[in-house]
Amino acid sequence: MRASAFNTRLLENFRLWCHKLLANMLPQLSSIANEKLCEVNRRLDTALNNMSQGLCMFDSEGRLVLCNERYIQMYRLSHDAVKPGCTIRELLALRKVCGTFQGDPYEYSTNLLARIAEGKTLRETVEALDGLVTVIVDRPIEGGGWVATFEDVTARRQLEHERDRGQKFLNTIVENAPIPIFVKEASGLRYVLVNRAGEQFWGVSRAEMIGKTSHDVFPKEEADLIAVRDQQLLRSDQPVVDEREIQTPRNGIRSIVSRRLTVCDEDGKSRYVVGVIQDVTERKLVEKRIAHMAHKLIHLNRTAIAGVLSASFAHELNQPLGAILSNAEAAEVLLTANPLNLCHLKEIIADIRRDDQRAGEIIKQVGGFLKKGDEIELQEFDLSDAVRCAFHLLDHEAVTRGVVLGVRQAKVALPVRANEVHLQQVILNLAMNGMDAMARCDPGSRKLTLETAWAGDTDAEVSVSDSGIGVPADKLERIFDALVTTKPQGTGLGLSIARTIIEIYGGKIWAENRPGGGAVFRFTLPLAKTRAA
Ligand SMILES: Nc1ncnc2c1ncn2[C@@H]1O[C@H](COP(=O)(O)OP(=O)(O)OP(=O)(O)O)[C@@H](O)[C@H]1O
Ligand SMILES: [Mg+2]
Repeated sequence: MRASAFNTRLLENFRLWCHKLLANMLPQLSSIANEKLCEVNRRLDTALNNMSQGLCMFDSEGRLVLCNERYIQMYRLSHDAVKPGCTIRELLALRKVCGTFQGDPYEYSTNLLARIAEGKTLRETVEALDGLVTVIVDRPIEGGGWVATFEDVTARRQLEHERDRGQKFLNTIVENAPIPIFVKEASGLRYVLVNRAGEQFWGVSRAEMIGKTSHDVFPKEEADLIAVRDQQLLRSDQPVVDEREIQTPRNGIRSIVSRRLTVCDEDGKSRYVVGVIQDVTERKLVEKRIAHMAHKLIHLNRTAIAGVLSASFAHELNQPLGAILSNAEAAEVLLTANPLNLCHLKEIIADIRRDDQRAGEIIKQVGGFLKKGDEIELQEFDLSDAVRCAFHLLDHEAVTRGVVLGVRQAKVALPVRANEVHLQQVILNLAMNGMDAMARCDPGSRKLTLETAWAGDTDAEVSVSDSGIGVPADKLERIFDALVTTKPQGTGLGLSIARTIIEIYGGKIWAENRPGGGAVFRFTLPLAKTRAA
């Protein structure tokens, strides 16, 4: 055999051998490739079916290539009905039956296919009849067809709705609140919110305030003050409540109580300044009027007391006047004597001077008692002095009414800060009530005692006790109310005025019945200096 023929045979044998070998191996190789492919497909299916979004892939004709489990669940479709190859129109028709599509399947799919053909990505939010809200994105893919994703945003939408509802609710409250409310952004201190009551209070429309600073809205002096206070608030970061007068842009000066605070970001940085204002102008005016009326009443009550005690006043005054007259007569007699007893004369003149001073003091005291005045003059004095003064004024009246008047004073001074005349008035009111309560008692048993004492370390106490009929237990509280009286000529104002006065000076007043009969009225006042001091 020639070499070439031999080589050809060899090659032919080798080719046949290779053929055989390949023929034996091919099924094995294809099974390995198949297995790999299946594995990849399985993984892909697992990934697709575990997506939180629904996903579909369509070819350029609108036929389904694949879809995941979530899509089928989301639109309540059946696995049997959704098969690769079914058209988008058929899918929409199925969804319509399930109530998860509301449009016209033909119209919708035609439009969609046209838009995809133009290479446009479509995005829309769709709300189904059952309340399911989905965001659908149809994205064209290379080589034709598209991928559609379906995201269920029902819960998110609900939260957004709730947040919007809450916001609206809050806005309605703020807008309709009868008190002015404003919000400024902390960085530039420009108004971002002013409610209706605020517009009325400042006399400026919202349009004129929003986006503006205080200097754009308020008179310069007021704006300067607001700016300083805002800076202080931002520095301290603590809510501030204060009362002051404010110069409004178009509503004059108003008295306000304002509460201001800062609202911070999550990172703790001040974001807004919020202010709530209470207009107390009217309340202040009413308070002023009431105070004025109370002063008038207090004065009227004093005049009434002076009327009752006029005989006492006259009696008090008569004593020094009588003494002056007697001394003047004695001096006249002495002047006729020869030789003149100058020493004696000097003594008489000194007595006249002393009695004149005493008369002057009584007139001053009565004048002071009847003095009118809205302003309360505060003095620091010994409470026992006021009691002593009242005792002198009552002395004659007590004798006239057959009452034994006694006074017991604390051994040490009881310094209080008040108006002395006011306190005398309280003591006189209590004392005259006590005398009234004893009017029908046996003349020998009528006893009225004024007493001063320490009450703890911080207060001084005055008590006025009588041996009269006492106060019915159920009336002990009520007798301090205005117009409560059991007397035919009484106004029922004495005790209510006494309480007003005592409360003005930070004290307390109350009544008790004494175990042995009669009543005791007490009041306490804070000491100007504590006992320890
Ligand atoms: N010491 C007392 N003992 C018994 N009852 C008293 C005593 N003090 C006051 N009351 C009762 O309290 C009532 C109210 O006293 P209040 O001083 O307010 O008015 P009033 O004395 O009746 O009238 P006004 O003070 O105008 O003369 C008296 O009418 C009386 O019934
Ligand atoms: Mg009275």
